[in-house]
Amino acid sequence: MAKILIIGGTGYIGKSIVKASAKSGHPTFALVREATASDPAKAELLEGFKSSGVTLVHGDLYDHDSLVKAIKNVDVVISTVGFMQIADQVKIIAAIKEAGNVKRFLPSEFGLDVDRAHTVEPVTSAYAPKIQIRRAVEASGIPYTFVSSNYFAGYSLPTLAQAELMGPPTDKVTIYGDGNTKAIFVNEDDVGTYTIRAVDDPRTLNKILYLRPPANIYTHNELVSLWEKKTGKTLERIYLTIEEVEKKIEESPFPVNIMMGINYSVFAKGDTTNFDIDPAVAAEASELYPDVKYTSVEEYLDQLLI
Ligand SMILES: NC(=O)c1ccc[n+]([C@@H]2O[C@H](COP(=O)([O-])OP(=O)(O)OC[C@H]3O[C@@H](n4cnc5c(N)ncnc54)[C@H](OP(=O)(O)O)[C@@H]3O)[C@@H](O)[C@H]2O)c1
Repeated sequence: MAKILIIGGTGYIGKSIVKASAKSGHPTFALVREATASDPAKAELLEGFKSSGVTLVHGDLYDHDSLVKAIKNVDVVISTVGFMQIADQVKIIAAIKEAGNVKRFLPSEFGLDVDRAHTVEPVTSAYAPKIQIRRAVEASGIPYTFVSSNYFAGYSLPTLAQAELMGPPTDKVTIYGDGNTKAIFVNEDDVGTYTIRAVDDPRTLNKILYLRPPANIYTHNELVSLWEKKTGKTLERIYLTIEEVEKKIEESPFPVNIMMGINYSVFAKGDTTNFDIDPAVAAEASELYPDVKYTSVEEYLDQLLI
């Protein structure tokens, strides 16, 4: 089985990808910064990695030799670095080129298809480095897969996509647009499972892998109705026009404006569903791997009620 290195495995989505890789039986390596390896806050996570058979490799995105050394030992490199390091993934591309042995690179994507998204600031600027990295990967000749996993369930469902809230809405919900645009939500561990299934699949080579689990496609209105049914409580629905949303984003502080901007793209513009998948350049995960038992939105909401 392909040996997999995850750069950013201690992060929010990285953890799920490391877990899925170890579970799948792929020899799994996690590049961990030295300071992180000795951080008490990360000790439990790293112990968990080790006990599931993951090999920890000390290294840093900004230490070229450490990257080349770690990459030379594997077949597949998955980057799950966060927002601040997206542009600096050119360093991973350079290290993969030097190492010369990598059969697949998955850069840090795990969101909307950045080439297709209809964004406003500050999301436009946040997506720009991801677009640049796509072009750099394509130009490098390194075999790749871009994973477009749509909206993480943990980021969207607990608040019913209310950017200003930390928990479920209790009396009212704000809906961008008419609330009838379909959106896609994917549980984080399922992002890990589908990603690992794709790493050595010829059907995903040099393609975008979209995650569109059929039971996880809901309009905002349908999502709110489902929650109301489960809680037995009706929420007042406040509908904002596109212009009102744009104004609200402009007037809101960081980082709420980022979350609002993503909700604008997902719910008002329909960016997770407003295009057909072109088999020449992309594939859909639940079709490729129908045996994966993913968490449905309904099951996810049920867990929130426990
Ligand atoms: N679809 C969605 O709803 C959604 C939501 C959130 C994020 N995302 C996407 O998911 C991807 C990952 O984001 P995230 O939020 O999971 O990231 P994150 O939690 O911020 O994790 C970043 C990871 O990068 C590591 N890292 C930072 N600097 C490094 C360095 N110099 N060398 C090596 N590793 C370094 C961190 O390690 P330490 O532990 O050492 O700090 C951590 O493991 C991004 O592309 C993001 O846009 C998507």
